Amino acid sequence: MAIRSVVQVGDEVLRGKCQPVEVFDEKLVQLLDDMKDTVKFEQGAGLAAPQVGVLRRVCVVDVDEGYFEFINPEIVMQKGEQSGWEGCLSVRGKNGIVSRPMKVKLSYQDRNGEKHLLQAKGFFARAICHELDHLDGVLYIDKATHIEKC
Ligand code: CO
Repeated sequence: MAIRSVVQVGDEVLRGKCQPVEVFDEKLVQLLDDMKDTVKFEQGAGLAAPQVGVLRRVCVVDVDEGYFEFINPEIVMQKGEQSGWEGCLSVRGKNGIVSRPMKVKLSYQDRNGEKHLLQAKGFFARAICHELDHLDGVLYIDKATHIEKC
């Protein structure tokens, strides 16, 4: 387990499209364990694999509902709308207002390759949407209607 350095905006890896995970091996376990160390150390609400330089469809979310690992996640349903503040470990010193769905239903695999369905609302749904965007090279600053220094 190790803390990895978080790639900052301007680095092309953040704009890449991530490939699905097909092999659930020791390397994936190591990536997930390192991402956990990193997001806890950085006190983030989430972290996506491209933020540690890996173009794979892997992200983690750390919110009031708990700590979650999502592999090959896909939003299968979304409902409503919410507008609120977001930040990103790859865009230090800024926050922005972004519109997101109020509720999402997510399909994903865990570190063993088992499939799951999960429902999330409010900030949890926001965090999921933010991390999934990272997997397609999208940053919240692309969608924010207002950005402030913090
Ligand atoms: Co982010």
